[in-house]
Order: sequence, then structure tokens, then C-alpha cells
Amino acid sequence: MREIHDITTLADLQAFANAWVETLQPGDLITLSGELGAGKTTFVKAIVTAMGGDPDGVQSPTFSLLHHYPCSIPVIHIDAYRLEGVDDAMRTGIPDVLNEESPTSITFVEWPEKVPQLWGPVSAHLLFQEVASTETQKKQRTLTIESSFPS
Ligand SMILES: Nc1ncnc2c1ncn2[C@@H]1O[C@H](COP(=O)(O)OP(=O)(O)OP(=O)(O)O)[C@@H](O)[C@H]1O
Ligand SMILES: [Mg+2]
Repeated sequence: MREIHDITTLADLQAFANAWVETLQPGDLITLSGELGAGKTTFVKAIVTAMGGDPDGVQSPTFSLLHHYPCSIPVIHIDAYRLEGVDDAMRTGIPDVLNEESPTSITFVEWPEKVPQLWGPVSAHLLFQEVASTETQKKQRTLTIESSFPS
């Protein structure tokens, strides 16, 4: 299954997040792919807003690797950009947090392809892309939702 949405403004993104959040449940793990600056962290911010959390608390966990956000269902936000394989990931404790907390949380993972073995069953895979519109020459953004992480 694949759905493609045009999400060019932050208002579009918030509207999409407000609706999509209704489909999420505890235990879901969502992988977020796309180039640097494609909008992965901004999407997590929109989801946290939609779930009654504090969007100002959402920062890219590039250095800390993992953040928790109190929301109607707890949100875990992982950025795997700096992970160098499974052994490195084990040392960070991320697999332990996933085992213990992800069943009662909703987990979002930026840069999942850095350690594809780590994530177990994925509820949805989201791909963020910037595309140049041929008609207006303006930048547009699309969000593609796939039902599984590409292997
Ligand atoms: N749908 C959108 N509409 C307009 N601007 C957006 C949208 N999504 C993201 N942006 C803007 O793009 C910039 C980069 O976004 P963001 O930090 O979310 O990217 P990222 O994919 O998490 O990058 P990284 O891989 O470096 O973590 C931000 O300034 C954000 O405001
Ligand atoms: Mg980010």
C-alpha cells in the first residue's frame, strides 16, 4: 500500500498530522526517511502538537539520539543518523528502551536506514521529499506513506 500526499506548507502538515494521529496506537513504530532538512523532525513536532504535547520540546535528537515527549500516548523520538551499526546502537541503550517502552508508546525513527536491523515490525514508513513543480517552479513537498520499511 502506498499513499502520496502533497504537504507543502506547515499548515498542510499540521492538518495532515491532526487527522493521521487518529490512526495511531500504542506499540506503533514509524520510520521517517528523507534527505537532511526534508521535514522529519518537523513532522514529529506536528504529531506531538496533535497529541496534546509541547511542540517546543521537540528537537532533533541527533546528538542525544533519543527523546521522550509526554503526550496523550507517550512519544519516543529516535534519530539514528549518528549510529554506526548494531554494536554501536547496543552501546547507546536504544534497543533496551525499545524493548521496555515502545509497547506502550508511539515511536518515531529518523534515519532508520542507518541500522535497518534494529526496528522490528514497522507500522508505517514515511518518506519526505522536496519536488520542484514544473508548472510554477516553486518547491513542493510530498509525504509518501508505505505500509512497511523497504528491505
Ligand atoms: N511541510 C513543510 N512545509 C514547510 N516547511 C517545512 C515543512 N516541513 C519542514 N519544513 C521546514 O524545513 C526545515 C527542516 O526541517 P526538519 O528539521 O524537520 O528536517 P529533517 O528532515 O528532520 O532534517 P535532519 O535529517 O537534518 O534531521 C525546517 O526549517 C522546517 O520548518
Ligand atoms: Mg531531523
